[in-house]
Amino acid sequence: MTTTILDVQGISKRFGGVQAVKDLSFSVGKGEILGLLGPNGAGKTTAFNMIAGYLRPDTGKVLFEGKDIAGKRPWDVCKAGIARTFQLSKPFGDLNVIENLMVGGFCRTGDRARIRERAEWMADFLGMGRQREAEANNLTAFDRRKLELGRALCTEPRLLLMDEVVAGATPSEAGEMVELVRRIRDMGISVLIVEHVMKVIMSLSDRVVVLDYGELIADGEPQRVVAEPRVLKAYFGERYVQSRA
Ligand SMILES: Nc1ncnc2c1ncn2[C@@H]1O[C@H](COP(=O)(O)OP(=O)(O)OP(=O)(O)O)[C@@H](O)[C@H]1O
Ligand SMILES: [Mg+2]
Repeated sequence: MTTTILDVQGISKRFGGVQAVKDLSFSVGKGEILGLLGPNGAGKTTAFNMIAGYLRPDTGKVLFEGKDIAGKRPWDVCKAGIARTFQLSKPFGDLNVIENLMVGGFCRTGDRARIRERAEWMADFLGMGRQREAEANNLTAFDRRKLELGRALCTEPRLLLMDEVVAGATPSEAGEMVELVRRIRDMGISVLIVEHVMKVIMSLSDRVVVLDYGELIADGEPQRVVAEPRVLKAYFGERYVQSRA
């Protein structure tokens, strides 16, 4: 039996008239890669933000390793062992690759030598060893994404939240990212990943959960879930589902 690292229990978030997330419950197992799916506006980023401390849930609990972290501030969530990447990556543009990676390390220790050592290791892990001195401003969009991932990993998380990591990437870059995520999991880090590119989600996820209009509509094995009528309807509409019946 797998142990649970993250247990989301009935979280909700309303923005004025929009119920962005409604009574959402799901869990992530230790060592698992869980894909979070759903059409645009389904509430994926909002759910992420409630887990990562950027938004306080209106209701519910977010149990990380058994402790409720709902409503904690982002830096406390990070200290607790959860790191995230953003849908839009924003490195420190005038810092170089190593310096950007080092920023993550200060979450754990003030020991600069140790932080630098880990940042150097991370640059190699990302396949960015040769760009270690490059200013983030001068990197390609994909390299900025990898840098953002590395900065999150330098905080030494046990759970990593990734929001749309291959958006705009070429197929070969997407393949490289898939390989990186697998290696991250092999390091013992559990992963919750939001991604629209089905090929990426299907090849990475051990399990997927699907949101539609803020509500959970499916949870299970990827191949089975994407064939469920409710999921097809959410993505393609009622007509498409009827045409297949
Ligand atoms: N800060 C906010 N203020 C008001 N409405 C918001 C805010 N953030 C999100 N929303 C609304 O909440 C709903 C869910 O948005 P969210 O960004 O969580 O969706 P998403 O699943 O991440 O979509 P996408 O796939 O496009 O990134 C949308 O209707 C969105 O317009
Ligand atoms: Mg989003």
